[in-house]
Amino acid sequence: ADPRTFYDAVGGEETFRKLVARFYAEVADDEVLRPLYPEEDLGPAEDRLRLFLMQYWGGPQTYSEQRGHPRLRMRHAPFKIGPIERDAWLRAMRIAVDETGIPEPYRTKLWDYLEMAAQSMMNSWV
Ligand code: HEM
Repeated sequence: ADPRTFYDAVGGEETFRKLVARFYAEVADDEVLRPLYPEEDLGPAEDRLRLFLMQYWGGPQTYSEQRGHPRLRMRHAPFKIGPIERDAWLRAMRIAVDETGIPEPYRTKLWDYLEMAAQSMMNSWV
């Protein structure tokens, strides 16, 4: 473990596992988000988001080994992501971040990134 990385400073894989599992528990019950997911099983989508975030914050590069370059805007192009979808995603993520118990200043840094990333994923203005 390298505590200079955000990844290790917040608790490594276990923390990202909790965060993303909590997020997908919200997605499963969300009437805006759930219909967007093409697969009945949310497990594979959960794995992809967890591996992406682990990689982004300085953990193992498994996401890119499995999926290649993230190209997240391109990968989201098939889904309409307007203000309603963005807000639903951030609502679910807010709960996940709060309940994962990540201490400051990491929590704010993570949240600011997620808000920026959700904004940048928009591809519709209605
Ligand atoms: C994939 C929705 C924002 C990261 C997906 C998928 C959907 C989706 C429907 C396909 C599910 C699947 O992987 O099978 C949304 C919506 C967003 C949003 C509605 C609202 C703004 C974000 C943000 C991030 C992100 C902000 C990163 C910080 C990912 C990743 C994948 C993914 C890594 C899997 C890409 C792949 O390797 O195929 N998203 N997303 N998403 N999303 Fe999002």
